[in-house]
Amino acid sequence: CGIIGIVGASPVQDRLIESLKRLEYRGYDSAGVAGFTKDGVQRRRASGKLKNLEEVLAAQPLEAVVGIGHTRWATHGPPTEGNAHPHHAGRVTLVHNGIIENFAELKARLQAEGRTFDTDTDTEVVAQLLDRELASGKAPIDAFKATLDQVRGAFALVIMVEGEEGLLLGARRGPPLVVGYGQGEMFLGSDALAVGPFTNRVAYLEDGDYVALSRDKAQIFDEDGKPVERPVQVVPQSPALMEKGNYRHFMEKEIHDQPEGCQRTIAAYVDMVAGATTFEGVDLAGVERIQVVGCGTAYLAGLVGKYLIEPLADLPVDVDVASEFRYRQPALRENTLTIAISQSGETADTLAALRYCKDKGLQTAVVVNAQGSTMAREADVVWPIYCGPEIGVASTKAFTAQVSVLTALAVAAARARGRIDAAEEKRLVGVLVEAPRLIAESINLEEAVQGIAHEVSKARDVLYLGRGPMYPLALEGALKLKEISYIHAEGYAAGELKHGPIALVDEETPIVILAPYDSYFEKSASNMSEVMARGGQVVFITDPEGERHAPAGAKVVVTAPRCDPLIAPLVMSAPIQLLAYQVAVQKGADVDQPRNLAKSVTVE
Ligand code: G6P
Repeated sequence: CGIIGIVGASPVQDRLIESLKRLEYRGYDSAGVAGFTKDGVQRRRASGKLKNLEEVLAAQPLEAVVGIGHTRWATHGPPTEGNAHPHHAGRVTLVHNGIIENFAELKARLQAEGRTFDTDTDTEVVAQLLDRELASGKAPIDAFKATLDQVRGAFALVIMVEGEEGLLLGARRGPPLVVGYGQGEMFLGSDALAVGPFTNRVAYLEDGDYVALSRDKAQIFDEDGKPVERPVQVVPQSPALMEKGNYRHFMEKEIHDQPEGCQRTIAAYVDMVAGATTFEGVDLAGVERIQVVGCGTAYLAGLVGKYLIEPLADLPVDVDVASEFRYRQPALRENTLTIAISQSGETADTLAALRYCKDKGLQTAVVVNAQGSTMAREADVVWPIYCGPEIGVASTKAFTAQVSVLTALAVAAARARGRIDAAEEKRLVGVLVEAPRLIAESINLEEAVQGIAHEVSKARDVLYLGRGPMYPLALEGALKLKEISYIHAEGYAAGELKHGPIALVDEETPIVILAPYDSYFEKSASNMSEVMARGGQVVFITDPEGERHAPAGAKVVVTAPRCDPLIAPLVMSAPIQLLAYQVAVQKGADVDQPRNLAKSVTVE
């Protein structure tokens, strides 16, 4: 979900929409705005994409200088106009991101008092509750505090109160909310991008904070009701980073951004002159175990990390899906370094897993893109990636930048633990520095991939196979394909083929095998033969050496540049991303905002 609130000095309708467009990348399935008009508070809402809301507004403009807006990703109830935000009760109109956990109990209490509800949403309960507190005669900010004291859950809220036309109330418990400082205007938004078109001066609310926003100031309170100051920061924002340029989709642009994103990221973790890695904040020699947590693509980046760090640094690495980790009561040991991986730095499960480890006294690090995010502020050590904002819901450049950090970390840990000497570290740093150029070469395979995309777009199921570091990449390839093209895809360790997935092999099922010419190659080639013996259509993604040694009969061979095994996961990423992208384009799917998916998942 995305939230924007503007206490403006000039009309806000178009600016609310502009901001919601900036938030589109988070994923949503309905949208709405509200404002104080001469006829009182008015709402405009629509299911589906923002263009539907724009049509509603064209027919019925919202003439207001103070207003709020929202894109909703359905959690409770379908994405209908009626369930779209803003919600309304009595004097209160509000937008909400997150979940009110005790809404059923609050609702029952309010109904017992005679209040009637228009919707089944948890959001309306907050509106009703605040309206009730206001009706008891409290000032808006006090009524708001009384409301916040009664609700449980993780949420961000922005609220208008009828009769208080120059005021917006906001609160943050869990999902982020930033205050934007303009010239005689103030803003509240889900992130710095949301307020980016209007100001680059923002303050991040802390967990538990709430705020009264007027045209010229933000009065911020902490969860105990104590007035607090939150530092105003200037966020660098290059408009170019937010534009698609000549690309058709953000995803396509972001695939092409990868050489630069990886180059900037790698440069932050290596000293090219000295030929050494530079990881600050942790004692890699003293660490006895690494615990990685993440969700989706970030989790898979962690799995690639395991395949790199364990053999090179002889350091055990556990990788868990954050939503499982946080509840499975993992057996943690001292001297374990927790590494959370998250593009947004806000994913609810990853954040909870990070906090879990922190509470257990473990040192925590986060590999993160959004540097102002909650995880970046809460982790002991922050290892940023420098790929620029990622807008496409399906992660691409954040993935390779995350893998870049973990690759550098593998080298740093190996050196710190005496597994490699300075000369070998220098060689590996040299290899890593080569990666951006080779990634660029591998992106040039676009045309080669286009040929396969047509075939794959007709498939019902696709299998991805790989061994070693290509195994997590096979999982990522399958995830990318299903995310944006809605074709069922599975990634498997190639050695597992015989233990089940081979039953799926027939003439109709494309099998993508990822196998550069490395120590696993012979085994992967055997698996390829097994597939072909059963009529399977193999798409073989390899390198020139692998192409020479491949068993004859692959339907298509995609030949990525040859590289050191250390950076093979980086170099082999582009072909699988491009394949998913091209297939989705062939199918006419909404590449940047696939159905049902959200970019930043701040609920469990
Ligand atoms: C969502 C996105 C994925 C992403 C995952 C983790 O599911 O659609 O692309 O990998 O969240 O997000 P994070 O921001 O924590 O990396």
